[in-house]
Amino acid sequence: MPTITYVQPSGQSDTVTVEDNTSLMRAAVANNVNGIVGECGGQAMCATCHVYVRPEFADALPDISEDEEEMLDCTTAERTDASRLGCQVRVSTELDGIVVDIPEGQV
Ligand code: FES
Repeated sequence: MPTITYVQPSGQSDTVTVEDNTSLMRAAVANNVNGIVGECGGQAMCATCHVYVRPEFADALPDISEDEEEMLDCTTAERTDASRLGCQVRVSTELDGIVVDIPEGQV
């Protein structure tokens, strides 16, 4: 089963193990990781699951859909090239060990 590491702005990190095909948002919420809200339940309609994906995993990420693209312009913290909606990135073997940084704020 893949693992995901979430790094807080403070530098503190949480590593969780998840079932294949679990989204970064669902995995964070299920494991009480601070800083990921997931208000819309994963519909790409709130941007409260914003994360910064470390560059070494960029090539394995799914493409950004039109809906995600629009919501990424609505994030509370600054959008960067590393920004993704956590609900739109599902983790399986290809993204095993992925590391994401959590922004300072989501709302
Ligand atoms: S949970 Fe709402 S956009 Fe991801």
